[in-house]
This record gives sequence, structure tokens and C-alpha cells, in this order.
Amino acid sequence: MSDPETVGMREGLPAPSQSHPGFLRRCAVACLIVLLLLAGFGILAAGWIVVHGVSARDSPTVLEETVARALRHLAVPAKDRRRVNPVPPTPEALTEAMAHWADHCATCHGNDGRGSTTIGRNLFPKAPDMTLPKTQGLSDGELFAIIKNGVRLTGRPAWGSPGNAEDSQTWKIVLFIRHLQNMTPEELDQMKSMNPVSPMEREQQRKEDDFLNGGDDPGPATSSLHPPHPGASRKELP
Ligand code: HEC
Repeated sequence: MSDPETVGMREGLPAPSQSHPGFLRRCAVACLIVLLLLAGFGILAAGWIVVHGVSARDSPTVLEETVARALRHLAVPAKDRRRVNPVPPTPEALTEAMAHWADHCATCHGNDGRGSTTIGRNLFPKAPDMTLPKTQGLSDGELFAIIKNGVRLTGRPAWGSPGNAEDSQTWKIVLFIRHLQNMTPEELDQMKSMNPVSPMEREQQRKEDDFLNGGDDPGPATSSLHPPHPGASRKELP
């Protein structure tokens, strides 16, 4: 067995550790500093969590939001970000997307995309106001990727199947997001009738209809112990 140190010596070359005796020491010190910094950061983060808890009511700090958005941006390959919406913005495509949005997205994002729903406001991070430049400034391709793949560690679910069978529906939703800033009161009204309704709300509605037709008093609107499903509350969704 040839020992690398003796080989080096036999050939007249000093062993690396001998040639730079200070080098390894400096590496060790640098590693130690990095480890200490990481440990310090970990202790600070743990302390912060213990003091502040892990409530989803807080809003992410500017730093958290900036880092998370930058990482999300980088996670979408540049070629995907450059994709242009292949679906033309016809009224039919928009109507279809509106129905999907009201059924699947409005629970968190609201019919108007501003995120002011019970769930949207209480998630961490919160559902954003999609009419603002932060969302509108994202490319079609990036919006598509976010909708299709979802965002890890947030409430944002992946939408549709992993294959591309439902891609055209997703592109239609991208069209709808572009339309959010121009929503009319009529469109918002129309969407209310497409929001999901829970069995409890349906039953309440049936009782109210019975009452209007001369039946018994329908009683209180909802049980105080069981607030209605946020997506179910038509009044709540803007
Ligand atoms: C369970 C709640 C929930 C549902 C349902 C939901 N989303 Fe979201 N969505 C979120 C949250 C929370 C974020 C913010 C995530 C983040 O900050 O990265 C988000 C972010 C987004 C974004 C990125 C906007 C931006 O500026 O960062 C898009 C686009 C989006 N959602 C589209 C949709 C569509 C389309 C649907 C329906 C198919 C949908 N979402 C359903 C919670 C939800």
C-alpha cells in the first residue's frame, strides 16, 4: 500500500499539508465560523418561533415574501416563463374560466380575485390581491406554471391533472386573471350563483323558500357553532 504522503516525499514533492500548513487551519476556522453562523441563525429562528408562535394570522415579513417570490420565480424554468397564452381571449373562453374560478378558486381568492375571503385572509401567506401589479406583472407562462403546479408550503394547490389534458382550461384561467381588473358588477353577480354551496346552506335556503311560500319560520341563518363553509357563503364572496 503506497501512502500518498510518502509517495509525495519520494518524488521530491512535499505533501499538501506540509506545503501549506496554514491552509488547512484556515479552512477549519472558516468552516467553524460558517457552522457557528448557521447555528446562531437556527437558534434565532427557533427563538423567534417560540416567542411569536406559528400562527397563520401573521403576514410574512418583507424579507420572507421577497425571498419566497424570488425562489418561486426561479423555480419556473425560463422557457416556461416565456410561454405565450395559446388560447385566444374569446367571450366563450372567459365564461368557461369564470365558472371554473367561481367553483374552484373563489373560496380563497374571491370572485373578484382580491383574496378577501375567510380562508384567503387567514392563510400564511395570504391569498394575494391578484388585480395588483405584483400578480398582473407575472408573465402568462409563469401564471400558468403556478396554477398548474401549485406552490409548496403555501395554501396554493396544484390544479388539474399532472399531464397536459387540462392545459387549455388552465390557459383560460390565465385569461380570466388578466380580466380581473375589468370585472363588471353583472359578472360578479353571475359568479355568485356558481360558487359552491354546502349542504347546510342548501338546507337553510330550502327552509327560507318554504317560509316565503307560507311555511314555518326558518330560524337563525346559520349555527353559531358551525360557521358556514367560506366558499358556501355567497354573501361573503365578493
Ligand atoms: C386553499 C386556498 C387556495 C385555493 C383554493 C386557490 N388558491 Fe391560488 N393561492 C393561494 C395562496 C395562499 C396563494 C399565495 C401563494 C404565494 O404567496 O406564493 C395563491 C397564489 C396564487 C397565484 C399566484 C399569484 C401571485 O401573485 O403570487 C395564482 C396565479 C393562483 N393562486 C391561482 C389560483 C387558481 C387559478 C385557483 C383555482 C384553480 C387557485 N389559485 C385556488 C391559495 C389558494
